Amino acid sequence: MRTFIAIELPEEIKKQIEKLQAPLKRTRAYVSWVKPGNIHVTLKFLGEVSEEKMDDVFSATERAVEGIGSFGMSLKGTGGFPNLRRPRVIWIGTGSGAEELSRLAERTEEEMEKIGFPKENRKFSPHFTIGRVKSPKNIEELAGKVESTGFQTEEIQVTEVVVMRSQLNPAGAIYTPMKKVPLG
Ligand code: 2AM
Repeated sequence: MRTFIAIELPEEIKKQIEKLQAPLKRTRAYVSWVKPGNIHVTLKFLGEVSEEKMDDVFSATERAVEGIGSFGMSLKGTGGFPNLRRPRVIWIGTGSGAEELSRLAERTEEEMEKIGFPKENRKFSPHFTIGRVKSPKNIEELAGKVESTGFQTEEIQVTEVVVMRSQLNPAGAIYTPMKKVPLG
């Protein structure tokens, strides 16, 4: 099973993201837009995990969140990876809560390494992917709009981490929570 560890968003924030995406979708850029229901922060991508190994993943997630209480998080700013001139990914960044997210990601990396998943080489950069760019054509028009969204949400309470299954599908990935692990 293709598996990752994530933090999900409340419905209210997903609605705000849908409104943010609407004018971006109207540009002539070639982007596969992530459905608002699927938008999340990935703490750790595990890739294919056998069914027998899933219990280890659940326990490692529980150990990773030990001693980390629930915290406030806001979404703030929009941009592109690696940059907005030639973006591959269009993202929303974080305002408050970024430090706690990094701590959670670091603890998750440590515990997953103990059960055999290699550590990520790249530094954790908390983000919500909202679109994946398919072609550089007409990208300037999109980049200009992404740069000037001024997107900012109120603070929400992060109370749990989710072990998620991902099924890839031409119509968009299907994510199914396999275990929700409460913080604190
Ligand atoms: P992304 O949002 O930065 O694209 C489910 O696919 C989640 O796992 C996505 O949020 C995606 O991150 C992340 N992901 C997918 N493939 C990955 C990989 N090879 N390495 C790291 N993260 C990955």
